[in-house]
Amino acid sequence: EVPRLAAAYADYFRIGAAVEPDQLEGPAAELLKRHVNWLVAENAMKPDAMEPAEGSFTWERADRIVDFAKENGMELRFHTLVWHSQTPDWFFRDEAGGAMVDETDPSRREANKKLLLKRLDSFVTTVVSRYKQDITSWDVVNEVIEPGDPDGMRASNWYKITGTGFIETAFRAARKAGGPDIKLYINDYNTEDPVKRDILYGLVKDMLEKGVPIDGVGHQTHINLEYPATERIIESLELFHTLGLDNQITELDMSLYVYNDLSDVGPEVPGDILQRQAERYGELFAALRARKELLSGVMFWGIADDHTWLSTFPVARTEAPLLFDRQHQPKPAFQAVTGF
Ligand code: G3I
Repeated sequence: EVPRLAAAYADYFRIGAAVEPDQLEGPAAELLKRHVNWLVAENAMKPDAMEPAEGSFTWERADRIVDFAKENGMELRFHTLVWHSQTPDWFFRDEAGGAMVDETDPSRREANKKLLLKRLDSFVTTVVSRYKQDITSWDVVNEVIEPGDPDGMRASNWYKITGTGFIETAFRAARKAGGPDIKLYINDYNTEDPVKRDILYGLVKDMLEKGVPIDGVGHQTHINLEYPATERIIESLELFHTLGLDNQITELDMSLYVYNDLSDVGPEVPGDILQRQAERYGELFAALRARKELLSGVMFWGIADDHTWLSTFPVARTEAPLLFDRQHQPKPAFQAVTGF
C-alpha cells in the first residue's frame, strides 16, 4: 500500500485536486478518495457555468462536486467568482443591449459601471449564500494583474468599465454574504515573478488599507521542469505572509516543456525526464514543508496525467504534469513528494 498523499501531509497543509463532475465516478474517483482531502472544480464553478443567462442559475454540476466532497469528508475551494474568461457576455451589455465597453458618453459610462457592479454584487451574493456552509476557501477574483497592461492591471471588461471597483465590490459582497468564516483569496499565475508579484502586492496592500476583506493570495503555480526556481516561489509566499495573509498554492502542475518550446517528447515520457520531474517536485515540497506556516494548502490542477489542460495547451502533445500517470499509477514524482 502506497502512502496516501494527503495523509503524508496531515501535519503540514491540505492537499487537493481540481476535478470535473464526470471524474467523480469510476477510477479517478477512487484515486481522489485515496489521496486528497480537498477539491476544486476545474470548470463547474466558473461564472459561465453558474449563471449562463441573467437570473438563471445552474447548480447541478457544481452540486455534484459539493456532494462528493461531503460524502468523502473533503474540504472545497471555490474557483472563481470573477474572471475575464469564461464569463457570459450578458454581464457587460447595457440596458439597450450594446457593449458597455464601447460607451463614450461619460454619464452613460457612470450608469453602466453602476449596473455592472450591481450585477456582480447580486451574482456574488447568490453564489456565496448557496455554498457558504460547504466551501471554506474562495477565489473571489482571478488573474486581475497583467504587467504588460496600463497600471499593471489587466485591461479586461471588468477593469475598463469599473476600474478596480469590481475587486472591491466582489470581496465586500462575498464577506457580507458569507460571513467571517469563509476565506477570501485573490488568485493569479506567475505570482513568483518579481515584477508581477510586486504589482499584486501593491494592489493587495491598497485594498487592505481601504478595508477590503482579503484573507489570502492564491498562487496558481503552473510551473515547468526548469522554471521558476523554488526559492522564487517561497519568496513570494513570504512577501504576502508579511501582510498577515494566508497563501494557497491553487493550481499546481509541472509541464515537461519550458515556455515557448513546442516540441513533443513522443508517446512515452522518457525516464530521465520523469526523474528530473521527481527531483524538482521533491525539492519544492521539501521547501514548502520547511515553511509550512506560510501556506494552508496545495491544490493540484488535476489528479493523473490522463486528464490535464496541458495536453492541448499550447499545442496537442504528450504531457505528464501530475503525480500519477495515465494508468493512475504513482510516478517517481509521487515517491519524491511522499518519501520523507
Ligand atoms: O464543455 C465544453 C464541451 O461541451 C465542448 O464540446 C468542448 C469543445 O471545445 O469544450 C468544452 O469546454 C471546454 C472546457 O475546458 C471543459 O472541457 C472549453 O472549450 C475549454 O476552453 C475549457 O478549458 C479550461 C480553461 O481553464 C478555460 O480557460 C480548462 O479545462 C481548465 O483547466 C482551465 O483552467 C484554468 C483556470 O481556470 C485558471 N488558471 C489557468 C487554468 C489553466 O488554463
